Amino acid sequence: MKITYYGHASLGIEVGGKNIIVDPFITGNPKAAGIDINSLKADYILVTHAHGDHVLDVETIAKNTNAVIVSNAEIATYYGNKGFNSHPMNHGGSWKFDFGRVKYVNAIHSSSFPDGSYGGNPGGFVIEGEHKNIYIAGDTALTYDMKLIPLRTELDLVILPIGDNFTMDVEDAIIASDFVECDKILGYHFDTFGYIEINHEEAIRKFFDKGKDLMLLQIGESIEL
Ligand code: NI
Ligand code: MN
Repeated sequence: MKITYYGHASLGIEVGGKNIIVDPFITGNPKAAGIDINSLKADYILVTHAHGDHVLDVETIAKNTNAVIVSNAEIATYYGNKGFNSHPMNHGGSWKFDFGRVKYVNAIHSSSFPDGSYGGNPGGFVIEGEHKNIYIAGDTALTYDMKLIPLRTELDLVILPIGDNFTMDVEDAIIASDFVECDKILGYHFDTFGYIEINHEEAIRKFFDKGKDLMLLQIGESIEL
């Protein structure tokens, strides 16, 4: 499994011979100006919730690629009504796709579209690939629901928001990584806006002091699991 960071909460995942884009917000992020969304490959677009900083480039990428948009029922229906391919899910449900199993799990946040349309309730995704399993938390507070994830899935990586203000901060993300029983963390949802700027070295050290490995990727940088 290969994971590429496209800035903010946007990710590319290569797994099982398929390309997945998560929460594309690239053209609206000056820090991601080096990423050309028209060059992105996607078989699927996973959307955690409907906020603008997670859906901005969904339609452009879906038009370019014919990708299937996977999200909660309300978001999938919103895009389905616009003629896009979509797969509706809801919390606690999972589906075996051709690249692996995806479960839509709880997040504590909100989820309206930029135009005010109802975006259902926000979530995160657990992805079980052929060899590796990851949890993408989406925008969320720390929640005890995270403890349910390792009851079913042994994680190789957890992707957690760490920017504070709209989501968990670093300290809560450390507790979240305890809850999901995974000491390898990719941080996201930081630095994009003034409200969520963080001190990188301090964040890495705080995780390190608890025996955990926090990775902060450059935009465009990838890791292999
Ligand atoms: Ni949000
Ligand atoms: Mn957000």
